[in-house]
Amino acid sequence: MLVGPERQAKLIVLGIESTCDETGVAVVEDGYRILSNCVLSQIPLHERFGGVVPELASRAHVEVITRMVAGALKEAGLERRSGRPALDLITVANRPGLIGSLLVGVTAAKSLALAWDIPLVGVDHIHAHIYSAAMRAKPPFARREPASIFPAVALVVSGGHTALYSSSSWTEHRLIGATQDDAVGEAFDKAAQILGLGYPGGPVISRAAEGGDPRSANLPRTLLEPGSLDFSFSGIKTAVLYHAKGQDSSRKASLKPGVKVADVAAAFEEAVVDVMIEKLRRAVRREAGVCSAIIAGGVAANRRLRSRLESFRKEQSVETLYPDLPLCTDNAAMIAGLGFELWETGRRDGLGLDAFAMMAR
Ligand code: KG4
Ligand code: ZN
Repeated sequence: MLVGPERQAKLIVLGIESTCDETGVAVVEDGYRILSNCVLSQIPLHERFGGVVPELASRAHVEVITRMVAGALKEAGLERRSGRPALDLITVANRPGLIGSLLVGVTAAKSLALAWDIPLVGVDHIHAHIYSAAMRAKPPFARREPASIFPAVALVVSGGHTALYSSSSWTEHRLIGATQDDAVGEAFDKAAQILGLGYPGGPVISRAAEGGDPRSANLPRTLLEPGSLDFSFSGIKTAVLYHAKGQDSSRKASLKPGVKVADVAAAFEEAVVDVMIEKLRRAVRREAGVCSAIIAGGVAANRRLRSRLESFRKEQSVETLYPDLPLCTDNAAMIAGLGFELWETGRRDGLGLDAFAMMAR
């Protein structure tokens, strides 16, 4: 497939993202040239609850989504000719996520596809996170070509998902591991709550961990049975609670004397990163001929993880890829990017496109 200057006609794609607590609308050309990427986070709405409230999330998407479509088109400089913008394809994340939130994006996309008579492609949000590693967030835009990347193992770690894949291209992913309980981002959110650090947990734990001693607490690394590629993070939050506040304490209790937030945050981060790296190691060893390890999703913004991936790259002699920081968390550019790739492989979805809360197996 030709992309970039060799390709004759450019394909202009609208992407819509509303799987959880970010409303995103983007316009992307040929799967990688980002013409606009508008994201509106609902964090201020949910932070006092310490997590996303589904009912509030869907209502907030409804309030802003049409205005955001108009804004993204305008920012991309797409003129409306006879009421129809110069778009070639509409793409929308239709799985997995909060069903009420998903339905807002899917209904908006279908309505626009019908009104403007533009084809529609539904995109898997988790696969789109993987694709975000193919893109660049800022000019000069470029797309990482698949030749040197696949076969790959891909780990998506976010607030809602922890999924490990064996990937043979940007569009073909086989699930080889998943979490049995909490997602990695969720573990960060809960540990931050215990330490009184606020929400979302990932960035605040990272900041708090600077200067902390990761060996100050011996927190568990739950690896499950030998060779398992699945994850479990429910034990570590209890371990953080017991270590920081004592056995039988409530989350709201104060820290034990002598316990430093920076130390606990660093020990927590180190333990979670150890688990992610070990699972990647197992996956690289198990899957045949792996050329690279791709890490994506909100938690891929984590600095400790990124620095450990550098040593992993040398240790395993594989390439390591992760998205530019603005593309780690939920956004619609990655939806439009993967939507373009799927379109190029012949994927077509009609107006009967449905939304699915569960992850594809
Ligand atoms: O991908 P994302 O925006 O949403 C979901 O699809 O869930 O990921 C959000 C998650 C949150 O749990 C947040 O705490 C986590 O990503 N996160 C981080 C960092 N930045 C965001 N986790 C660890 N370190 C970070 N620097
Ligand atoms: Zn996500």
